[in-house]
Amino acid sequence: MPQVIGAIDQGTTSTRFVIVDEAGEIRAFDQREHAQIYPRPGWVEHDAAEILANTKAAIAGALEKARLSPRDLAAVGATNQRETSLLWDRATGAPLHNALVWMDTRTQSLVDRFAAQGVGDDVRAKTGLPLATYFSALKLVWLIKNIPGAREKAERGEALFGTIDSWLIWNLTGGAAGGRHVTDATNASRTQLMNLSTLDWDDALLSLFDIPRACLPEIVSSSEVYGPCVDPLPGVPLSGALGDQHAALLGQACLSPGAAKNTYGTGCFLLMNTGETPHVSKAGLLTTLGYKLGAAKPTYALEGSIAIAGALVQWLRDNLGLISSSHEIEALAKTVPDNGGVYFVPAFSGLYAPRWRGDARGIIAGLTRFSNKGHIARAALEAAAYQTREVLAAMETDSGVAIRDLKVDGGMAANDLLMQFQSDLLDAPVVRPRHLETTSLGAAYAAGLAVGFFKSVEDVAQHWRAERRFEPAMTSDERARLIASWEKAVERSLGWA
Ligand code: G3P
Repeated sequence: MPQVIGAIDQGTTSTRFVIVDEAGEIRAFDQREHAQIYPRPGWVEHDAAEILANTKAAIAGALEKARLSPRDLAAVGATNQRETSLLWDRATGAPLHNALVWMDTRTQSLVDRFAAQGVGDDVRAKTGLPLATYFSALKLVWLIKNIPGAREKAERGEALFGTIDSWLIWNLTGGAAGGRHVTDATNASRTQLMNLSTLDWDDALLSLFDIPRACLPEIVSSSEVYGPCVDPLPGVPLSGALGDQHAALLGQACLSPGAAKNTYGTGCFLLMNTGETPHVSKAGLLTTLGYKLGAAKPTYALEGSIAIAGALVQWLRDNLGLISSSHEIEALAKTVPDNGGVYFVPAFSGLYAPRWRGDARGIIAGLTRFSNKGHIARAALEAAAYQTREVLAAMETDSGVAIRDLKVDGGMAANDLLMQFQSDLLDAPVVRPRHLETTSLGAAYAAGLAVGFFKSVEDVAQHWRAERRFEPAMTSDERARLIASWEKAVERSLGWA
C-alpha cells in the first residue's frame, strides 16, 4: 500500500529528492550538487544531462535512506529552478546545448533591441513581466539563433523547448519513447510567452519573438497526473509540478490573498498571494501565477525577485575561498559586532526587483584598513536583508496591505543572525517554520492532491507550524542610518555594465 509522496526539488545549485508522509513530515532526503558553468562573464549554464542523472541518483539515494522502494510512493511531484531554458532532440533526448540559467545575462542586447521597439509595456501587460535577461523567451531566441540547425528542427517539432520541469517530466515519463512534453502553468508564466489571462501561449508574442509553437510544451495545471514514470520510479504517477517559488508559496500555506513568504535560496524570492485576479504592479514587481491546482481557478501572486542571495555566500566560498563550506558564514559574520561600515551590493546579474537595472554590477563599498573578512561576511548576509526590505516595501505599495509578519524559508533562513537582522530592518516579525523545505513540501502537496493522498489544500495547510519568531529590536535611527548607507552603495553599482 503506497504510504508516502516523493518530491523532486531541482534547484539552481543542487537537486534533492524528499520523501514526505501524510502528516507532512519529511522522512528522508538526498541531495546532489551540479556544476555551474561560466563560459564568459555574465554567462551561466547547466548541463541538463547531469541534472537528469543527479535527479535519478537523488531518488535512489533517498529511497535507500528511507528503506523504501518505488512501490511505496503514492505519487511524485517536481519543483524546479524557473526560467532556465533548453532545447533537446525529440528523437535522441540529447540536449542541443547547455541550458541557459535564469541569471545568465547574455540576452541583454536582445532586451535592448526589443525595448527600443517600444514593446515593453505590451509584453508586460500580457505576461506580467518586464523585458529582462531573467525570463525564458529571449534565452530561447538566443538558442534558436546560435545553435546550427535549431530553427529548422524547432519548426518541425524535432527540437523541444522546455524549462527544467518539462525536461524532467519528459524524461521521467518515457523520454524519446513517448515522454509527455508539458509544462505547468507556473513555470509557463515565467517564460514571457504565456498570456496570464488565457494561460495559453500568446500568438502575438510568439510572432514578436519569432518562436515556433511546434517546439513548445503543452501547458497543464500544477496538480494532475501527467503520466506514469518509467525508470527509476516505474509506474509511480507523476502528478505535481510547480516552479520552486510557487511551490514554496503552497508549502508555506499562503493560501489567502495577502499571505506572503520569502525564500532565501540562490536568490531571494518574495511572493504574495493576490487571489483569483492578476494584480498589475506599479512598483517594479512581477505579476505571476501562484498555482493552479487541477481544474480549480488559478491563484495569482505578486513577486519580488532578487537574483543573488545564497549565491553570494557560495561565491565567497568558491571564488574567494573565504569559507570552506556555506554554513561557516554565520560564525565568520559573528566575529564582528556589526558591518563596520561595509556594504556589498551583489548585482552580479544586474539588479532585479524592484529596480530592474541590467546595467548594475556588484560592488563592495565602505572598505577601510579596519575592514576584515568578518565584515565582508556580514555585509554579504545583510545584502539579502536590505534587498528583501526594498521588495517588501514595493509589495506594500502595490497591494496597499502592510505585511504583519514575514514567513521565511530556504537554506539561508536557518541563519539566526540574518533572520534577526531581517526583522530589525523590516521593523516586523519574521516567522520561521518547522520545515525549511517548504519548496519540496509544496510539490509533494500538489502531487498528493492529484491522486487523493491529501484530501484538500486546506487540509495540507494544517501541517504548517512555526518554529521560531524573530522580533525587531533595532532603534528607528539605527535602521534609517543603515538603509541610507545601503542606498548610497546601490547608487554606486548602477550603470557599471
Ligand atoms: O527564478 C529563479 C528561481 O526559481 C531559482 O530558485 O531556489 O534555485 O534559488 P533557487
